Amino acid sequence: MTENTNHRPLVFSGIQPTGKLHLGNYLGAMKNWVRLQESMPCIYCVVDMHAITIWQEPAELSAATREVAAACLAIGIDPERSILFNQSQVRAHAELAWVFNCVARMGWLNRMTQFKDKAGKNRENASVGLFIYPNLMAADILAYRATHVPVGEDQKQHLELARDIAQKFNNDFSAPDFFPLPEPFITGPGTRVMSLRDGTKKMSKSDESEYSRINLSDDANAIAQKIRKAKTDPQAMPDSKENMASRPEAENLINIYAGLSDQTPDAVLAEYAGAQFSAFKNALADLAVAKLMPIGEKMRSYLTDRAELDRILADGAARARLIADPVLREVRERVGFVG
Ligand code: TYM
Repeated sequence: MTENTNHRPLVFSGIQPTGKLHLGNYLGAMKNWVRLQESMPCIYCVVDMHAITIWQEPAELSAATREVAAACLAIGIDPERSILFNQSQVRAHAELAWVFNCVARMGWLNRMTQFKDKAGKNRENASVGLFIYPNLMAADILAYRATHVPVGEDQKQHLELARDIAQKFNNDFSAPDFFPLPEPFITGPGTRVMSLRDGTKKMSKSDESEYSRINLSDDANAIAQKIRKAKTDPQAMPDSKENMASRPEAENLINIYAGLSDQTPDAVLAEYAGAQFSAFKNALADLAVAKLMPIGEKMRSYLTDRAELDRILADGAARARLIADPVLREVRERVGFVG
């Protein structure tokens, strides 16, 4: 991390207000967000501008933005200590993204696998915003000169692009250390939570099967049912990592258990080696209900006070502007914009 020695440690991460938050979002990213508050200043952003790269009903977008904010509070983000806001309230993101649209190369964006996945076969009809989505993500991070970015595995390529953009900007504008090269922070057993229906597919908000994912807002019955119905293979629980490697569904459930119970997958393997899946699933269902129900309840309670949620987001945005605006002033100067 020698490249960031001149930058104060600062955490930035974002989450899209589209669909319901699920266990992958929680174990892959948000759980680490809470922990990082203890050791570094943190900025957490509900990325509503990213959300509209795919059509969103306006009323649903507002509701989902508040829902994600409520989820952040429910899992333990402290809005006094950290900054919690929605992206569109801070103009610096859009402004810096435009500059980055002119720094990033077409070839770089053409390599982004998530665009290919999301645009699918209908590439010609995808929004231009979806294609340049990673430039806005780089702007989110670099408007604050953030150094650490806690995310799930699927965001790794976007972060590499953010580093390339930072480096090219620094080179192009003769400012060797202007932007830090942000470090991905991808850690824990839940960095890639897979679908409960297919252990080779990522758990995702857009999967058509409700049984593929556990939502943070699910009730106890739904959580337990989804786990009991989760796909497994006919063998007993694996007794070693080697034995687990070729069994994606078993590996996924073990990782979920490890993530929820703050243990290593090895410890879970040791406890359940050779057990029947039905017994393990019962234990996992109990654990998931015990961990997730309080989050769902708190979320629902935060959602009853919309004015307070909006106040928290506006306050976060005001504090975010205080950091981003001076960075943008310097960017404008470096680029040669007058005024
Ligand atoms: P989004 O909204 O898709 O997901 C939010 C976070 O959840 C993680 N995640 C997962 N982790 C493990 N297993 C899964 N199945 C799983 N599904 C999702 C994601 O990796 C992410 O950390 N582009 C980002 C949002 C963003 C952002 C940023 C992130 C915008 N600007 C700046 C960091 C920094 C996204 O779409 O995340």
